[in-house]
Amino acid sequence: SLPSQVRIVEVGARDGLQNEKAFVSTADKIALIERLADCGLQSIEATAFVSPKWVPQMADAVEVYSGLHRKPGVRYPVLVPNLQGYERARSVGVEEIAVFTAASEAFNRKNINAGIDESIERFRPVMDAAKSDGIAVRGYVSTVLGCPFQGEVPLSDVVRVAKALHELGCYEVSLGDTIGVGTPAKARAMVHAVAQEVPVSALAVHFHDTWGQALANILACLEEGVAVVDSSVAGTGGCPYAPGATGNVASEDVVYMLQGLGIETGVDLAKLADTGRWLAGVLGHDSNSRAGKAAVIK
Ligand code: HMG
Ligand code: MG
Repeated sequence: SLPSQVRIVEVGARDGLQNEKAFVSTADKIALIERLADCGLQSIEATAFVSPKWVPQMADAVEVYSGLHRKPGVRYPVLVPNLQGYERARSVGVEEIAVFTAASEAFNRKNINAGIDESIERFRPVMDAAKSDGIAVRGYVSTVLGCPFQGEVPLSDVVRVAKALHELGCYEVSLGDTIGVGTPAKARAMVHAVAQEVPVSALAVHFHDTWGQALANILACLEEGVAVVDSSVAGTGGCPYAPGATGNVASEDVVYMLQGLGIETGVDLAKLADTGRWLAGVLGHDSNSRAGKAAVIK
């Protein structure tokens, strides 16, 4: 059966922007995050404290986070790859972080220059520091339904890595179809397998829409009991180290589908569509959200 409520984790300001070629100004990034909070989103990934040599678009993480007017009750997680990132994030008062690794060894090496086990070891001191500082930690597993370098990813690897992150202390583990190759039966089987080792209430799904399967995949995962969905306004996004991947599923499309299913999100679709249209203008290209465009035309 379907959940009665879904929490959307809006990743547009991080995943959505990290692959944009032209630098988006710090002021526009802040405006985006504040607009998203005004749409009723409760979890808004704000930025990434990664190496600016690896992801130049996120070089202004300190300025973005410290320039933000944070809305009470809204969570603003940020990506942190290592202790250095953690310390930068803490210096500006971050209250929630996300660590990230992958089910594919090959992808992980390209993305964070570390193998899977090595990355988990790298997170240990971050988790310890977060625990003593009272910081919540989310975990990401990438390439759960396929890898741009390795191809097929064994389900057992997805389960093992998700379980490791949960055991490490991540309150939620987001399962990422980084290159958007999954289809519903595969997505469902993947979540079902992970849920044998990690409570389904601690799972989120993160679909990129490369092959147009994201909404169908999300619905399949909701039927497995997942109630947290990552998405990106205007369908922006993509990982610079995942060749061929396009944007995340659009938040507007997810909200429209959930509304139609009678599932509460707390998000104002009209405002969200407006934000998506504004963002497309800032980025100088078309929105990838079908619902976003339809809502504006109407
Ligand atoms: P490395 O080169 O092995 O790191 O990169 P290093 O420790 O050797 O440091 C190299 C340089 O980077 C040094 O500077 C460090 O100070 C600096 P230098 O001495 O050369 O001047 N550095 C940092 N600077 C700022 N903040 C930091 C930091 N760490 C090191 N935190 C590293 C390893 C992990 C740092 C690098 O590979 C990296 O930053 N990778 C991030 C890649 C990334 O952000 N990818 C996109 C996000 S993941 C994603 O999109 C998937 C997801 O959406 C889910 C899905 O779709 O599947 C989450
Ligand atoms: Mg992603």
